[in-house]
Amino acid sequence: MHAHLDKILINQVEIVERSKQLAKEISEKYAKTDKPLILVALLKGSVPFLAELMKHMSIDIEIDFMDVSSYGTNMESTRDIRILKDLDRSIKEHPIVIVEDIVDTGRTLQAVIKILDNKGAQSIEVVSLLDKPSRREVEVDVAYIGFEIPNEFVVGFGLDFAEKYRELPYIGILHKDFY
Ligand code: PRP
Repeated sequence: MHAHLDKILINQVEIVERSKQLAKEISEKYAKTDKPLILVALLKGSVPFLAELMKHMSIDIEIDFMDVSSYGTNMESTRDIRILKDLDRSIKEHPIVIVEDIVDTGRTLQAVIKILDNKGAQSIEVVSLLDKPSRREVEVDVAYIGFEIPNEFVVGFGLDFAEKYRELPYIGILHKDFY
């Protein structure tokens, strides 16, 4: 275990097993679409989860990436997001599953869903490795959730603190001396 952690919350085996189950559910749901499913991953935290999830998909899929950042302070109720990197291609009439590492306030997803809807997606669902429902500020429908977690400072498997710890192959709780 990394020395900066209090404990491992979700280990590597648990992440792989849950990703397999989610990939199976998503593959079954999108087995008969006329246009291929596009997994839209939000950079950067979702990269390891996307990589794990897509390995276990049993249907043809495509992938694309968006990078968004919120601006305004957390205290503002009308926090908006800025697109740092947009999709490479048109998603018009394609079914979309947004891939996230964690849903916290829900504001990022709320804004991204609106953007993808405006781009003419046929349907939009969300898969998130982690969900912290106790932090939610806006209602957002997350169809596929890996693990519901308590309000702890988690890092690893894509999740960072100041860009560190993304490489850890598990989700751990960061010791308070390090944030
Ligand atoms: C994190 C995470 C989600 C978002 C969740 O991204 O990956 O996209 O915050 O928070 P919300 O539900 O309160 O909107 P972050 O902006 O830290 O970028 P990163 O993925 O590059 O670390």
